[in-house]
Amino acid sequence: MPKKVTKAIFPVAGMGTRFLPATKSVPKEIMTLVDRPLIQYAIDEARAAGIKEFIFVTSRGKGALEDYFDLAPQLEQELRKKKKTELLKILKSTNMESGAIAYIRQHKALGLGHAVWCARRLIGNEPFAVILPDDVIAADKPCLQQMVEAYAETGGNMVAAMEVEPERASSYGMLDICEENGQLVKVKGMVEKPKAEDAPSNLAVIGRYILSPSVLQHLNQIKTGSGGEIQLTDAIARDIDAKNNVFGFRFSGQRFDCGSKSGFLQATVSFGLSRAELKDDLRAYLRSINLDDDA
Ligand code: G1P
Repeated sequence: MPKKVTKAIFPVAGMGTRFLPATKSVPKEIMTLVDRPLIQYAIDEARAAGIKEFIFVTSRGKGALEDYFDLAPQLEQELRKKKKTELLKILKSTNMESGAIAYIRQHKALGLGHAVWCARRLIGNEPFAVILPDDVIAADKPCLQQMVEAYAETGGNMVAAMEVEPERASSYGMLDICEENGQLVKVKGMVEKPKAEDAPSNLAVIGRYILSPSVLQHLNQIKTGSGGEIQLTDAIARDIDAKNNVFGFRFSGQRFDCGSKSGFLQATVSFGLSRAELKDDLRAYLRSINLDDDA
């Protein structure tokens, strides 16, 4: 049986320029879907999958993110005094155990692969998860938990996979597949952001990974790839060359690309509609606007 996955890396060093001016002073991971910052969705998903150590790869200007995970004793006291028990419960659910979070700085914006590599000493010789908080996945069973369960059977490396339109291939890591077995696909190659005509399939990598420490060694060696950056995709592809297994996992759930404005808005509507206290108002509003009337 493969070793349990208890560590996760959250690459959060990106500047979030697509959301300027908001991201001028607010890290994009703190931007809220309904009432919770993006990073909280990622943390909750990791916890549900059994993650105990949370490693954030950050950069300059991400102080608000570190503050978010501090305890807030004054606020707690105030809520307790006012007997706002529901809010107190919500606040406490964001508390992290002392020592469970580590912050590592990525000093240069050299890409996702480089960000993951920056955490190598904290990972050591264990399998680890990577969660990209921009990819928010609504699912009955959280995506990483689905993957951890599948990984207990397969070992090796696993990436979340989803079909995309051919013209979108150039936005993703794309999988070259050799075997299909239900939700699992065996991967024989991977290519980062290919042109539509060069994509080996229509299965794209979505931001959830379970990786073996050998990937970190490949990251030590690889050169810059797509976009002049050190690509995680290239390091995983090297592990296939080194005869280690890589699986794509077709997760159950709906993925939102919260790195784009349109994806963020869609997620906001969808998560709003899934909240008992909001859905009636929101639905009434959506009905009241004539969506077919392209003003
Ligand atoms: C990253 C990865 C890419 C993956 C994507 C999923 O790209 O490099 O392989 O398909 O996340 O969201 P980014 O969106 O950071 O450019």
